[in-house]
Amino acid sequence: MNDDSGLPEDGEQVPSSQTDSSSTDPDGFDQQPTEKDQAATNQASSTIQNLATIPQRAVARQEEADTILTSTPIVDVRNLAKTYIIGRTSIRALQGISLGVYQGEFVAVMGPSGSGKSTFMNLVGCLDRPSQGEYRLAGKLVSSLSNDELANIRNRQIGFVFQGFNLLTRSNALSNVILPMVYAGVSREERERRGRSVLRLVGLGDRMDHKPSELSGGQQQRVAIARALVNGPSLLLADEPTGNLDSRTGLEIMAVLQALNEQGLTILMVTHEPDIAKFARRQVTFRDGLIVSDEPVLSPASAKEEWTKLVNKVTAEHKVKVTEETR
Ligand SMILES: Nc1ncnc2c1ncn2[C@@H]1O[C@H](COP(=O)(O)OP(=O)(O)OP(=O)(O)O)[C@@H](O)[C@H]1O
Ligand SMILES: [Mg+2]
Repeated sequence: MNDDSGLPEDGEQVPSSQTDSSSTDPDGFDQQPTEKDQAATNQASSTIQNLATIPQRAVARQEEADTILTSTPIVDVRNLAKTYIIGRTSIRALQGISLGVYQGEFVAVMGPSGSGKSTFMNLVGCLDRPSQGEYRLAGKLVSSLSNDELANIRNRQIGFVFQGFNLLTRSNALSNVILPMVYAGVSREERERRGRSVLRLVGLGDRMDHKPSELSGGQQQRVAIARALVNGPSLLLADEPTGNLDSRTGLEIMAVLQALNEQGLTILMVTHEPDIAKFARRQVTFRDGLIVSDEPVLSPASAKEEWTKLVNKVTAEHKVKVTEETR
């Protein structure tokens, strides 16, 4: 099959909705900046700049972004509960969560392992159904929709980014990004055009033909972000998006997410790491299937600034080392 068709190659599985942290190794992070490294750094830097011009279709309209916290919440869950039954055991993963997330918010969902974060994201992402409670997405009661209706909403309104990237391993970057548009019934030319445009926006204009194994971990995650944006979702869900990445690449991905949020995209992101959660505008903490805190971040750190500082520091240290070695 032609790789540009947007469809998985023969025998290739569409990624599962579950996080697959074992599927891809992050690239070996070379602390010493080489020419290649510098080129990657420059590329990432231009990516971060380019995001200022991301198409408004991929994010909320600016006038909407300016009316944050005024209208209907994008995500409105009331007393949401989820119990998993395995044999004779039942696990109460969520015990009654109520939360509203408004347009333009960037919410970090935190909490210990097993506290229900991914279960919550799966419900919000319409990948699973609650055992109890109500969920409205942009005012629409989704807890009562049919499977087909849920799949439709998932494809058009929600973008997903996972820890393990969940890319089709035998398809190139462009085919991976095009896939959600195939399911949305977008014409072939439009798929190509949008796929290329979103890949360029995440700084991968020169990597469209590369398969995931030919990309670094950060680049793979950028392909996943491009794929999540391509249908113009109103909500981006990210479950540990930096969990498989070294700290510098993690900052790069956070800079991309912050730039998207500044353009008005609503983001809900699970993370274990306070160092990642500090880039969000609001932090919600789960424990034992309940929300135990919900706090605004008064002045969120800038991932782009931290990334620049880190890169400059590594470059300066490298220069000192080279100078000492050549003495
Ligand atoms: N599909 C499932 N079937 C049965 N039990 C499940 C399933 N998914 C999750 N659980 C259980 O539900 C609880 C919450 O799991 P969940 O994956 O939501 O936690 P989490 O906060 O995302 O944890 P982590 O930080 O480790 O990813 C856990 O006790 C887990 O074992
Ligand atoms: Mg989880």
